[in-house]
Amino acid sequence: MKKFVALIGAVAALALTANVAAAQSPIIIKFSHVVANDTPKGKGALKFKELAEKYTNGKVKVEVYPNSQLYKDKEEIEALQLGSVQMLAPSTAKFAPLGAKEFEALDLPWLFKDDAEYAKTMKGPVGKYLFSKLESKGIKGLAYWDNGFHMVSSNEPLLKPADFQGKKFRISGSKIADQYFRLMGSIPQIMAFSEVYQALQTGVVDGCENTPSNYLTQKFDEVQKHITVSNHAHLQYAVIVNAKFWGGLPADIRTQLEKAMDDATEYTNSIAHEENVDALKQIKAKGKAELHYLSDDQKKAWREAMAPTYTWAKGRVGQEVLDVLSKELGVKMN
Ligand code: LMR
Repeated sequence: MKKFVALIGAVAALALTANVAAAQSPIIIKFSHVVANDTPKGKGALKFKELAEKYTNGKVKVEVYPNSQLYKDKEEIEALQLGSVQMLAPSTAKFAPLGAKEFEALDLPWLFKDDAEYAKTMKGPVGKYLFSKLESKGIKGLAYWDNGFHMVSSNEPLLKPADFQGKKFRISGSKIADQYFRLMGSIPQIMAFSEVYQALQTGVVDGCENTPSNYLTQKFDEVQKHITVSNHAHLQYAVIVNAKFWGGLPADIRTQLEKAMDDATEYTNSIAHEENVDALKQIKAKGKAELHYLSDDQKKAWREAMAPTYTWAKGRVGQEVLDVLSKELGVKMN
């Protein structure tokens, strides 16, 4: 009898230990992305980690994997769908594999006048409309993070549309970008972000487009002789989670995570512009690549050459998103 009581006691103690361990073991959120820590998105992910862990008193642990450490562009989307990672912040140019081509409308050339117009647009009906397109895909959109406007580069100056003729440019995934590069007479090629430096260095492609913070942190300016600060298109991210994972979180935890995401978003979007201004200054100071700025006439020639992208876009992204954008921005789309 004594032995039996001791056994019951031991089993109970074991169960208690297991319960305590379960109660204490944190919920893990793996947050994978492809850029450096020292960029607006890199800093945003780390800010979310800091705040999520703080607001949940350590009940959630966020593991940030930058620089394609865990997955490259295409693989990370698949990993999210499979639940191997819980959170991503891909550029919206990469959303077609999720079945949401509408996001590519944001890549239309010279769509946003400036940062302020971009920010206002994403906070309004456009941002909501795009997130609604993810619902049926098992993905939930949490926030939009800014990374400013694209520059474009090659080893020769790019000042007029004819300068693009026959050159190969790496693009990140959007067919809208594919279209405007084609309209300039060049040959676009989709390639993972982690492969761009080497492709530029070895001449697999002649050029690329990206924002100053990405040029600087990936050292693209060291393998491109000429960069045109054209601001011809905008780069933004959508922070997304696996909807099943998000929905399955305890409600109080989810509320704290939403607060952490809101605060991290405000922080990221508040530093994005300055981070890019600063990165451009550093690129200039390094002096590896020569910076070019378009005159009004040159800009006009680029805009005219790329303009047919707007009519073409309807067949790719659909009229609906173009209407939502057109209404919000007060511009004619096609
Ligand atoms: C790219 O692939 O050029 C960008 O989307 C990378 C990034 O996430 O900023």
